[in-house]
Amino acid sequence: MSTPPGDKRHELERRLTVGYHLPSLAFITVVAGAISAAAFIVWPLTSATRRSALAAEPVSNHHRMIANACERCHDTLFTGASDSRCLSCHTVGSHARAFTSKKVQAVDRCASCHKEHHGQRSLVPADSPLCTKCHSQIAKVLPETRQPSVNDFAHHPEFALPPDTGLLKFSHAEHLGNLQKEGAAPETLTCGTCHVRAADGKSFTPIAFARNCQRCHRLQADPRIKGTPIPHGNVEHAIEVIRAALAEFYLNAPEGGHDSAAKLRERVASETRDIIDGVFTEQDGCKRCHEVTVTGTPGSPDVKQYNVEPPLLRTHWLSAALFDHGVHRQTACEQCHTRARGSTTASDLLIPGIAVCRDCHADPGTPDKLESPCVECHVYHSKE
Ligand code: HEC
Ligand code: HEC
Ligand code: HEC
Ligand code: HEC
Ligand code: HEC
Ligand code: HEC
Ligand code: HEC
Ligand code: HEC
Ligand code: HEC
Ligand code: HEC
Repeated sequence: MSTPPGDKRHELERRLTVGYHLPSLAFITVVAGAISAAAFIVWPLTSATRRSALAAEPVSNHHRMIANACERCHDTLFTGASDSRCLSCHTVGSHARAFTSKKVQAVDRCASCHKEHHGQRSLVPADSPLCTKCHSQIAKVLPETRQPSVNDFAHHPEFALPPDTGLLKFSHAEHLGNLQKEGAAPETLTCGTCHVRAADGKSFTPIAFARNCQRCHRLQADPRIKGTPIPHGNVEHAIEVIRAALAEFYLNAPEGGHDSAAKLRERVASETRDIIDGVFTEQDGCKRCHEVTVTGTPGSPDVKQYNVEPPLLRTHWLSAALFDHGVHRQTACEQCHTRARGSTTASDLLIPGIAVCRDCHADPGTPDKLESPCVECHVYHSKE
């Protein structure tokens, strides 16, 4: 029924078709678009319950109180969540010092790790790729870094532990099993005898002379002042106590009675010096456990200067990772601290290396091992 265009009949035929009286296809599209926009965007926004229909799934339980206050997280409804909105409620530590000093260029948005609208799924991500996207090539993120790249746990670098500069003289090997020291009750020493769990269950109470050593290594000086225990932990205090106890001994001693006051004073002073020398320099005194340095002129009438190097008993070895002894309670101490029983000096490092952890921990998906993504052992937001 087609006729050449321009023809009058053609024009008439065109008017007789149904389509001529209907809106053009373009017009229909525009109107339909407007209606659906009203139905799906504007109308939902007019009420809280309707607004929530826009988001595929509800927000997590933590954020339920703002579930319908979309603007608390979104600058506009057509943009993703904005960091500044999250930070209006949360104060979080930055990841590493390099981030605060603005040396890292490509900093992630909060929402690249903390996804929302997934119902009850945890807001805290556990997927290693969120971390390895930077750490597998860390020098690209921070050219000056000295850290090795970390792709996964299977190729994770050995832990960089601080050196053990304990300064205490101590041998684990000598102190395990059945021990008896003169004047003390016999004991069978195990790890738990000295390393007692702290109240938090996660760590151990620090070693203390009074609690852990004194009963076998009592600090004693000369038989003349046997009844006076020498106080521990402070050189000046120890000297004062020795001096006072000895003076008292001679004041009450019958043979001292014949001496003149001046002679007695000289005798007490000289013997005090000898006893103090003994306590600080003989093998069964402070020197048993400490480096003691002596300064001051020999033969000087004054008591010499003694310096006892205070031991540094570190209770925290890992600074960049988490570790909780409570969680590992079921595992025997020596499964991890394999070197402790044989260690003869306090400067032996007894903290386990990564091979020990790999007995149980592995990348997610490894058969028969604990699924351990990076965040099993590391935090993202530093506490600083
Ligand atoms: C607690 C903060 C928070 C609230 C409240 C919130 N959102 Fe979101 N929303 C997010 C985050 C986080 C994303 C993840 C996407 C991104 O930003 O990269 C997101 C993504 C979206 C997306 C993109 C599609 C998707 O599911 O990934 C839409 C659409 C959306 N939100 C709509 C809404 C609406 C509508 C509301 C209010 C009913 C709302 N949101 C309330 C945090 C929030
Ligand atoms: C109106 C305040 C508010 C806003 C805005 C907000 N949150 Fe929260 N958020 C909370 C509260 C309250 C909690 C629950 C208490 C808590 O854990 O501190 C929470 C919890 C969390 C948690 C902890 C979840 C857990 O398992 O411990 C994360 C992660 C989180 N929010 C991230 C975000 C992110 C990312 C944004 C921005 C997209 C955001 N929040 C926006 C108030 C807010
Ligand atoms: C945007 C890139 C980026 C992302 C994503 C990232 N990191 Fe980092 N990370 C860095 C940079 C940069 C440093 C600092 C390196 C330095 O100081 O040499 C760092 C440092 C670290 C350190 C060493 C901290 C210290 O005190 O020495 C650990 C551990 C770490 N990140 C673990 C993680 C984990 C776990 C994740 C995932 C939750 C993660 N990182 C995600 C860039 C990133
Ligand atoms: C008589 C007390 C005593 C007993 C028993 C004992 N320890 Fe210790 N332990 C110490 C003292 C003191 C230190 C601090 C000096 C040092 O580093 O050796 C210490 C330090 C440690 C450290 C710190 C890490 C290091 O490298 O310095 C570990 C780990 C440790 N002991 C594990 C063990 C284990 C495992 C056992 C059992 C096999 C055990 N200890 C038994 C007294 C004891
Ligand atoms: C159960 C008793 C007992 C306890 C508790 C004990 N020791 Fe000993 N210690 C001994 C015995 C026994 C010896 C073997 C040598 C000796 O008799 O002097 C010894 C030897 C030592 C030696 C080597 C002595 C030397 O002259 O070579 C040092 C150092 C030492 N202990 C330090 C400590 C420290 C530090 C503590 C507390 C953390 C401690 N001991 C707790 C019984 C004990
Ligand atoms: C049997 C081992 C032993 C002997 C002997 C010993 N100490 Fe100690 N000393 C320790 C231990 C263990 C510590 C660390 C724990 C503590 O402070 O109780 C320590 C800590 C110290 C400190 C540091 C205290 C602080 O608060 O930082 C001083 C100072 C000290 N001793 C002085 C002395 C003096 C002085 C003597 C001799 C009179 C002496 N010690 C004898 C084991 C010993
Ligand atoms: C699963 C491995 C593992 C087991 C099991 C384990 N440890 Fe440890 N231990 C570690 C690691 C890792 C560290 C370093 C953690 C840190 O200080 O940050 C450590 C640190 C220590 C320290 C030094 C820090 C402090 O708290 O004084 C002592 C002491 C210690 N362990 C004793 C023990 C004793 C005692 C047992 C048994 C009751 C035990 N450990 C069981 C892995 C283990
Ligand atoms: C004998 C097996 C075993 C060994 C060896 C072991 N772990 Fe674990 N580890 C576990 C178990 C079991 C859990 C608990 C897992 C859970 O609850 O999800 C755990 C949990 C953890 C956690 C999470 C703690 C928490 O608060 O949930 C960290 C961090 C960790 N281990 C670090 C280490 C490190 C570092 C080493 C090596 C020094 C190590 N583990 C060695 C069995 C082991
Ligand atoms: C089973 C526990 C565990 C797992 C899983 C783990 N790490 Fe570690 N990581 C550690 C320990 C422990 C250290 C040593 C921390 C220290 O020296 O204070 C460490 C150190 C690091 C360091 C610092 C390296 C350096 O030499 O300064 C980085 C970066 C790091 N880990 C990244 C990662 C990344 C990325 C993942 C995930 C692929 C991961 N780690 C998985 C336990 C773990
Ligand atoms: C590379 C991934 C990543 C990025 C980016 C990230 N987070 Fe986290 N966030 C985590 C992880 C992992 C945890 C679990 C605890 C931890 O590692 O510190 C967490 C924990 C939290 C928590 C709950 C625990 C706490 O420390 O209070 C809040 C709130 C939070 N993040 C908010 C934010 C905000 C706000 C931003 C943006 C400024 C952000 N996060 C960026 C990975 C990330």
